[in-house]
Amino acid sequence: MRRLCHCELSERLLYSCFLLLMGLGYLMALGYLYTTYQGVDGKPGLSVQDIAENYYGNRSGSRLEAAIRGSMSAYLSLQERNVVVAWLKSGAPEQGFEQDVLPIMKKRCAACHSPQSGLGLPDLTRYAGIREVADVDTGASLQTLVKISHIHLFGVGLVLLGVGMIFRRARLRGPVKSLLIVLPYAAIIADILAWFLTKWDPVYAYTVVIAGAVLGVCLGLQILISLYQMWFARAGGTACPSDG
Ligand code: HEC
Repeated sequence: MRRLCHCELSERLLYSCFLLLMGLGYLMALGYLYTTYQGVDGKPGLSVQDIAENYYGNRSGSRLEAAIRGSMSAYLSLQERNVVVAWLKSGAPEQGFEQDVLPIMKKRCAACHSPQSGLGLPDLTRYAGIREVADVDTGASLQTLVKISHIHLFGVGLVLLGVGMIFRRARLRGPVKSLLIVLPYAAIIADILAWFLTKWDPVYAYTVVIAGAVLGVCLGLQILISLYQMWFARAGGTACPSDG
């Protein structure tokens, strides 16, 4: 097999651009993860608790409260949030909705959360609509989990295939290379399985975090080792004998 260190320039450039793009994509995914899940549990920063609440729910709070503390928090001020939370805590009565909450919803949320937006999101400008997300939060729905699972399985599978096709030509001891190729696939399966398990018992949030970390480390190593061997292992030297 021709090794990475034997590749001609055009091949190295192509592979390097692809690997860097995939690395950047992974960092963006981490950024998305952080901005979406940090603060879900009401405390700043990302914790296992945030992950647990995303899948299991916060069974002492509502989806609306989780959203305005987490993914939707940028759309309203702290003061407005407190008004909505106080209304939720008082049992989410219809009268309070008209008086205190509806003006905030119209001003801050209606652009997306009304029938006019055509986005199919919960309609927060009607009492019946907001009631749907004002009840106890049982986390992401099974339908959502199935949706994001299939996207991740296809997407991550193809990223691992692309990066792995390059990495398999690195010079590395056989067992180590095999491990680095198989482990991320095992990790993504464990990760996604754990999303569903976390819906059932929040303790599996640890599996989600550990499996996600294993995937990230393996992908990072595949990318860095490949880049290093392409550009820094001199062909014909001890690191790159010409017989491959
Ligand atoms: C720019 C568009 C936009 C605005 C403005 C917006 N949202 Fe959202 N909202 C979304 C989208 C898209 C989703 C679905 C994806 C997601 O959950 O991130 C969503 C999801 C939600 C959910 C979760 C529904 C569920 O099924 O659990 C709640 C609750 C919510 N928003 C509340 C609010 C509130 C309250 C405001 C105003 C303070 C607001 N949103 C403002 C776009 C918006």
